[in-house]
Amino acid sequence: MSLPPGFLEELRTRVSISQVVGRKVVWDMRKSNQAKGDMWAPCPFHQEKSASFHVDDRKGYYYCFGCHAKGDALSFVRETENVGFMEAVEILAREAGMPMPARDPVAVQKADRRSELAAVMEEAVKYYRMNLSTQAGAAARDYLARRRLDLAAQARFEIGFAPDHRQGLFQALRQKGIAPDLIVEAGICARPEGGGEPYDRFRGRIIFPIRDARGRAISLGGRAMDPNARAKYLNGPETPLFDKGRNLYNHGPAREACGKGAALIVCEGYMDVIALVEAGFGGAVAPLGTAVTEDQLRLMWRIHDEPVIALDGDAAGTRAALRVIDLALPLLEAGKGLRFAVLPAGQDPDDLIKAEGPGAMTKVLEAAKPMVDLLWAREIEGKVFDSPERKATLDKSLRAAINRIADPSIKAHYGEDIKRLRAELFGAGRGPAGGGVARNGGFGGDFNRGFSGGTGPRGRGGKGWTPPALPQPSTRASLLVAGQGADLAEHLRETMVLAILVAHPTLIASFETQLEAVLLADPAHDRLRTLMLRHGHAAPDEISKQLLAGAGADLEKLMNLPHVRTAPPVQKRDDAELARLCLAEALAKLKAERAVRAEVEDAMEDLEGLADEGVTWRLRQAAGLVHRAGHLDEVDKRASVRAPNGVELDRHELEERDALFDNIDYSRGGRGSRRT
Ligand code: UTP
Ligand code: MN
Repeated sequence: MSLPPGFLEELRTRVSISQVVGRKVVWDMRKSNQAKGDMWAPCPFHQEKSASFHVDDRKGYYYCFGCHAKGDALSFVRETENVGFMEAVEILAREAGMPMPARDPVAVQKADRRSELAAVMEEAVKYYRMNLSTQAGAAARDYLARRRLDLAAQARFEIGFAPDHRQGLFQALRQKGIAPDLIVEAGICARPEGGGEPYDRFRGRIIFPIRDARGRAISLGGRAMDPNARAKYLNGPETPLFDKGRNLYNHGPAREACGKGAALIVCEGYMDVIALVEAGFGGAVAPLGTAVTEDQLRLMWRIHDEPVIALDGDAAGTRAALRVIDLALPLLEAGKGLRFAVLPAGQDPDDLIKAEGPGAMTKVLEAAKPMVDLLWAREIEGKVFDSPERKATLDKSLRAAINRIADPSIKAHYGEDIKRLRAELFGAGRGPAGGGVARNGGFGGDFNRGFSGGTGPRGRGGKGWTPPALPQPSTRASLLVAGQGADLAEHLRETMVLAILVAHPTLIASFETQLEAVLLADPAHDRLRTLMLRHGHAAPDEISKQLLAGAGADLEKLMNLPHVRTAPPVQKRDDAELARLCLAEALAKLKAERAVRAEVEDAMEDLEGLADEGVTWRLRQAAGLVHRAGHLDEVDKRASVRAPNGVELDRHELEERDALFDNIDYSRGGRGSRRT
């Protein structure tokens, strides 16, 4: 909806900002000068004892000399009530006695229908509430008591009871003169398929009213008291009021709590939300009988920059988390993220709080992991990365995930984090043979353990992590050329290929092509190969003589390597067939490893490329900002504009604010040019 010209000016003129702010702060009366509209208080946006928060009632703005929060009545309402722009306008307009401008007729009609439906819902809520206190509600009250929901909690969440009557609600609403069509459209009664009178959807259930962010009753959830009921929970159907995917249980109260600094906790069900709120976690919400949707994620991010997804510590909870990750990746933008708190297996927040108290829940929340950790865990969980092929597969899936992030800066940071995690798992990444072994066991069951590892290198995954298998120190020291950046396993294989050929010179001719093609990383090996290819067609004794003459020292070292000396195909000089088989295998493996290594290096470069892309993007952004601002002071000013929770505002918001403040002069005694 757009506001008519002049509406906002009128609103700002009519509203007294000191009155609006006065509801949230305690004025320092010694410092303030009420007659001049010059008011001071401790800042509501940051912790302080002194009064550095200044409100100029005549000019209609506030400014904090401590945290530099500033704005007008509208932004004050937005930030303290945690509401959007339009809602802030509505709140202030109501207060100022200004009717909100009329909307177009179709929209008005729809809105009217919706308010009618909301009124019907409100009646239904009352009916169910009332039924909880009747005699028929005794079993329901017992049930709630067993679940430790006291009267205050029942009242706060307006919990009701639907008696087991076919038309209890229907008749109650009819008696109030509500039309059957409206009752059906509200989703609380349904018409039988064969026709006839509508019947109550909710029967023999505990009722949880669902309200939208503005507090309108939009639907109901009902929990069966009978453990054998067909559905444990029943949610109202989609109606003009209720769009399941665009609402959250406890949305309004959670938004308010988050505005006051509470964490936003996303859990699975009604009872979890209630248990959390009752335990002091006011910012709890739940999707409504469906998996979390994209719209719900956006709603959450409007309330809080970093919602915490609280997962049941079981397979289903894990699957739900993975779905959320897939949903969130393309939507990520700077300043918005997700964390995942993993509950003990088989427990939901309600169970945990009941069993161990709010402290246990706090611990779980404090241990919440950022999304990148979960993404990583998903890719490595239960897998063993003991071959280049497997590592390449991992890189491929990680790249695919990262590429789904739209925001280049975040994408780059994910790339960096994933690279770090990868290096921790594989040792130095390109160093010695990294047989990274991820924790085994299913993603579900071992999830908790998987997340409990430290964060230092090698600390990840705790006891589940096993160092890569390296050769004995003696072996390593006696290698022809130790390491040289080549993969240790491949190096060992190179030595084996050459040693077999030294022990069986007649094989050189028949393996000529493969020997020529294989990439040998060690220069000493390369020299030996050249000699072999040059003299391979000579008599066996002659070949041996030439090799000794051309590369005597290297040859001696090679043949004295412990793993070479003891290798059967080298020892058994008369078993040409064994030697042939071993050689063929070693060459084939070497070839495969080398091919995959190229792929892995490509992948690493891609990850590095992501980082570069991000840097370029950030530089461009910075340059653009300087350009737009015209001079550096402007950049400073912008940088200092912070939301009350300390997070920098996004560009859109900054522009919106700048537009609001265009005519305001913040220097004391300046010519504040607000229209008065
Ligand atoms: P759970 O089965 O985990 O139940 O469903 P719960 O929340 O722990 O409930 P209690 O503690 O047994 O009472 C989680 C959520 O999934 C939806 C509901 O929204 C529920 O809160 N659900 C579950 C349904 O929509 N239908 C069902 O049959 C079951
Ligand atoms: Mn439960």
